[in-house]
Amino acid sequence: MFHTGLRKMFPLNREALSRIIPPERLKWIAYGHFEADECGAMNEWLAVAPQAQAAHGQTGVMVSLNDFADRAPRVLVDGETIDLGGKRVRFIDTPHTPHGWDAGVLYEETTGTLLCGDLFTQLGNDKALTHGDVVGPAIAAEDLFQYSALSPTMGATIRSLATLEPRTLALMHGPSFAGDCAGALSALADDYDRRTRMAQAFGL
Ligand SMILES: [Fe+2]
Ligand SMILES: [Fe+2]
Repeated sequence: MFHTGLRKMFPLNREALSRIIPPERLKWIAYGHFEADECGAMNEWLAVAPQAQAAHGQTGVMVSLNDFADRAPRVLVDGETIDLGGKRVRFIDTPHTPHGWDAGVLYEETTGTLLCGDLFTQLGNDKALTHGDVVGPAIAAEDLFQYSALSPTMGATIRSLATLEPRTLALMHGPSFAGDCAGALSALADDYDRRTRMAQAFGL
């Protein structure tokens, strides 16, 4: 599971997962960064799934998860993979991108799926999978919320994800995208570089 959902949404999400697998069979729980929608229901899931273990990057485990999780978490170093049996997920550190110094994403290697977390956040209720534009809506949502922690390395961090050449971008707050994923990541990186330059120019 990548992202537990909000603690108060646990009954809904448990019911949703039970349509796919028995929730007690859940083995791994990971998330993008420490925030209520990403990991608020962590301990509820650990309680229903006795074999499940939380997993996150070194920073996240040190600053939050060691204390927060009811069972000892697994530390993932940057680039480390977990074999799920037929699927392999790689943890990639993306500090402060889009926010949180513990931030990271997961890349599922066999299907080429980048689990983007908050990257490409957009408004509205779209279909589950789109082949349309995900960059324009992400720029619009950033304009509105300004949820990202702009930093000089943000563009480079997102651009480095483009080198994975994913086949699908799985958004947390928006549809999954199938198409030119490297192009979308590069365009998003360009936009954050633009924002960072503007912020520096105006001393914001
Ligand atoms: Fe977030
Ligand atoms: Fe989120």
